[in-house]
Amino acid sequence: MASVERVYLIGFMGSGKSTIGRFIAIDMGWTNIDMDHAFEKEHNCTISSFFEQHGEQAFRDEEEKILKRLSTEKKVIISTGGGVPCYANNMSVMKSSGLTIYIQVDAYVLMNRLESAKESRPLIRSKNKDELLHYIKSKLAEREPIYNTAHMIVDGQALPFYCYKMLIEMFPKEELKQ
Ligand code: S3P
Repeated sequence: MASVERVYLIGFMGSGKSTIGRFIAIDMGWTNIDMDHAFEKEHNCTISSFFEQHGEQAFRDEEEKILKRLSTEKKVIISTGGGVPCYANNMSVMKSSGLTIYIQVDAYVLMNRLESAKESRPLIRSKNKDELLHYIKSKLAEREPIYNTAHMIVDGQALPFYCYKMLIEMFPKEELKQ
């Protein structure tokens, strides 16, 4: 049985994609790529200032290009930005080139995590606690139908990090499909 050679972690801001990605990469001896970091390195500016200067659509266009490039890398765990699956044909690009894992986390947990980590995230940085919860709930309702098409859905609050390696290695490459 051939196993997958590329994994995409998808999910809402604050779901833990970057932290989990770093852990899995170490566990598997693969390379970890965080798309937000790749974006900032390539553009030599923060995502917030890119949004301010060029707007969200330009950000999504650049994100799409980065994803296409990463989709040919081997032995990589790619932590995607929360919006990636929901723009262009990014979800199909990911599903046809690797294993997609949706890290599902409850809206209230996301709110508590994001409240102290919103400065670097232009879509939520100016929101107070109530606005943040409202935003998370309505964006999740919009995005979850897409996140839910991932090959695997895991409970991001309950699944221990060390279980990801086993799940990835057990997933048959032949079952990757659009
Ligand atoms: C975004 C999520 C962010 C980042 C940008 C937009 C989104 O990534 O790409 O601020 O649209 O959900 P994280 O999910 O890593 O926070």
